[in-house]
Order: sequence, then C-alpha cells, then structure tokens
Amino acid sequence: MTRFDDGRPEMTLEEFRLLRDHVYSHCGILVHEDMKFVMERRLWPRLEALGLMDFGAYHRYLRYDAQRHAELEAAVESLTTHETYFFREPSQLKAFCDELLPILEKRNGRTRRLRLWSAGCSSGEEAYTLAMLLKDSRRFDDWDVEVYGTDISRRVLTLARRAEYGPSALRATSADLLERFFVPVGNNRVRVRDEVRAWVSFGHHNLLDETGSQLVPRMDVVFCRNVMIYFDLAARRRVLRIVRDRLVPGGYLLLGHSENLLNLGADFELVHLRGDLVYRRPELPGLTGGEGR
Ligand SMILES: C[S@@+](CC[C@H](N)C(=O)[O-])C[C@H]1O[C@@H](n2cnc3c(N)ncnc32)[C@H](O)[C@@H]1O
Repeated sequence: MTRFDDGRPEMTLEEFRLLRDHVYSHCGILVHEDMKFVMERRLWPRLEALGLMDFGAYHRYLRYDAQRHAELEAAVESLTTHETYFFREPSQLKAFCDELLPILEKRNGRTRRLRLWSAGCSSGEEAYTLAMLLKDSRRFDDWDVEVYGTDISRRVLTLARRAEYGPSALRATSADLLERFFVPVGNNRVRVRDEVRAWVSFGHHNLLDETGSQLVPRMDVVFCRNVMIYFDLAARRRVLRIVRDRLVPGGYLLLGHSENLLNLGADFELVHLRGDLVYRRPELPGLTGGEGR
C-alpha cells in the first residue's frame, strides 16, 4: 500500500470502486473515477476516527461491523453537498406563487388542505421559504397547511429544526422579508418566526428508500431541487418513480434550474407556465383534467 508524505494511505482503484458502489447503492450518489482523490480526502478523517490503516479495512468496516449503519451515514455525510439558502431560484418561486398557488387554492378549495414536500431539504431554508411564500400569499391563512422537509443527513436536519441562520443563508432575502419572517437572536443571526415554523416539520428520509417512502403522505407539490444532480440515470429513475407515487394525481414536481427529466422516460407531464417549466403527475384516466386541458 502506498502512503502520502503526511502518512495518509492512498486509495487503490479497487478500494475506490468498492466504496463508490457501496455509497451509490445506499443513496444514489455517484462519485466519478476522476474524483477518487476527493473521496480519498473526505473519507480519510473517518479512517483516523476509527483507527483503521487503509481504505480496504474501511470498506470491510462498512460492510460487516456492528456499527456499519451509523458509519455509512457518516461516510455519506462526508461526501454530500448541503449548499442551500432562503429564496433560492427566485424566478421559479415567482412562478410557483403567481401561477401554481392560485391553481392549488382552487383545486383544494373543498378540503382546504395543502401538503408540500421539500425533498432533500438540507438545513431547512427551502422548506421555510415555501411556508413563508404561502403565508405571504394570504390564500391559505385558515387552511390545514404542512410543509415537510426531508433529508438523508441527520446533521443538517438538526440545523433545520433549530431554525437559526446567519448571513450566508440570507443572502437572497430582502430586508422586508427578513423583517416579517425572522427574529434576531444576536451574533448576526436570526430565527424563523414561530408562525412559519408551525407549518413546517422535518424528518429523516433516504429518497431511494421505497419502503420508507410509503410513510410519506401524498403531496400536492414536491420540490426536489439540486439533489439528483449527484445521481446517475438509474438512481434518478428510481427517485422519480417514488416521488411520482407520493404526489396526488395532478400534483406538481419542481426541479432545480439545471435539472430536467430528459431521457428519463418518467411518467410526468411537462407544464409550461409563463415563468417556468414544471412537471405534473397526470390525473387519473377518466377523471376531469386540471387546468389548461
Ligand atoms: C445541494 S442540497 C439542496 C438543498 C435544497 N433542495 C436546495 O435546492 O437549496 C442537496 C441535499 O440532498 C441531500 N441528499 C443527497 N442524497 C439524498 C438521498 N438519497 N436522499 C435524501 N436526501 C439526499 C443532501 O444531504 C443535501 O442536503
């Protein structure tokens, strides 16, 4: 086994492939071969923490040790990107407010119930943003509203539940929104107001876990933005099948601005809004269609 000057063991190509496949089958994140050095650097602290000599030993630990489930979470944690902030991708959010919310108000007017899912919510900014936009619209004031945020990382979910944020998370938040939806907590930090938090809850969920997904209630809208960019085609297909299943017929899926369903053969309709392209689970055959049909 080769070692770097600082004593770190080098990851062999075989070890890389074993670790990559293990991570991929758990969470869909595919580390390309030219990123071997990134995996090596990010996982090395785990070997140190566990007192393991090389990446082969680490792979055996992930497979067979009694602590393997917790360690796999730690490995995935080291390899995932949690970048997010409030009011990210404003033109999509504007289309959501101006064009989808009136449709949802009409559609669900009888039940007065609305369910939104921020799938891959990271530290919660997206889920809270959606709740703030719903509040701002005044359309759902006395409705039963729930925004669910889920993520595979328990670390970011702890931050989401704490609901306290610093300047970086607020870089796209106007002074007016800041004033209305946050309270200062000192040290240049703010906390999301309780009235917004009351509509939002967080849970641990792996988007590839079909069984666990059965527990997710049926949603009117799913935001799954900037999550599947790290997945390959097969994993995206699996996630999309699950997400489609959790949407009500006629429910909407919104992806990040660099993502689309091309080549996925996914069973969604493309809906051209004036301000954005979104996806929709088709209505059940035989039922009256939604708007624009
Ligand atoms: C870049 S953040 C995107 C956050 C937010 N959706 C946004 O667009 O601002 C991607 C998040 O997806 C989560 N993630 C990655 N793989 C996942 C999986 N298989 N199941 C659930 N969440 C996952 C990561 O932990 C990370 O917090």
